[in-house]
Amino acid sequence: MARKTPLYEGKAKQLFEGPEPGTLIQHFKDDATAFNNKKKGTISGKGVLNNRISEFIMLRLEEIGVPTHFIRTLNMREQLIRAAEIIPIEVIVRNFSAGGFAERFGVEEGLPLPRPVIEFCLKSDSLGDPLISEDVIFAFDWADPMELDEIRVLAYRINDYLCGLFRGAGLQLVDFKMEFGRVFNEEGYEGIVLADEISPDSCRLWDTRTGEKLDKDRFRRDLGKVEEAYQEVARRLGVLSGEGEFSPIEEKAKKQPTSKPKTSTAGRASERKKAVKPPKPAPKKK
Ligand code: C5P
Repeated sequence: MARKTPLYEGKAKQLFEGPEPGTLIQHFKDDATAFNNKKKGTISGKGVLNNRISEFIMLRLEEIGVPTHFIRTLNMREQLIRAAEIIPIEVIVRNFSAGGFAERFGVEEGLPLPRPVIEFCLKSDSLGDPLISEDVIFAFDWADPMELDEIRVLAYRINDYLCGLFRGAGLQLVDFKMEFGRVFNEEGYEGIVLADEISPDSCRLWDTRTGEKLDKDRFRRDLGKVEEAYQEVARRLGVLSGEGEFSPIEEKAKKQPTSKPKTSTAGRASERKKAVKPPKPAPKKK
């Protein structure tokens, strides 16, 4: 088997060059970090579970017309994804108060919010992922107003759908983080896709009946039974059978990109607009 070319190593994932132009291999590790890298550890089997959970969620989202970077799963820890120009913003949606939100506003955790709250943070380890406003995003040209509108619409839609999906599995989606990226094809800019992962690493998931935390907070807060929580989420979503075996997920017949994403249009949003067609949400066939 050919050695893969590493391109980027993050805290919980690694990216390798993909087998075809315009693709990457996303590898899920067992490493876990919290509090901006101050706490480090390993959650045994997490990478395998997150690979599977994220695959399941991305496939479901594609079904409702949300464009994602996911192409197909390659093995237990790796998936083939579309190369995207990642927008350096963490998009957080909150349905209940918890974590940073509860701390910032001095409220208890678990208060239902009358409507979902979207927050933006800059993706920057060195600055500690600071909370940013829309005006800051435009001032630094991390995204333009049209793109941010599209991201907001996608974020509400994804949240709506995932709340129902998790509710069906006896889980409350308290909050979660998303990342988005720009994809390009032969003709230039194609649109925005949901990138990164959606898993118990990036979501707060509480048992609907008992309120038990079944996500990375078990690691952050030393609550124990961390591996078991990830397994429980996978089991409830139906991607893990009772014996710890994986249930097959149907393959998505997704058209694979044929050309490398053009990097020449990266940079200022105004230049991007001149160089490419205006962004349009990719219409999805059911
Ligand atoms: O810590 P905070 O309350 O802001 O986190 C909100 C949500 O975003 C949580 O579900 C958390 O797991 C997720 N998150 C993340 N990666 C970060 C920051 C937050 O996945 N760097």
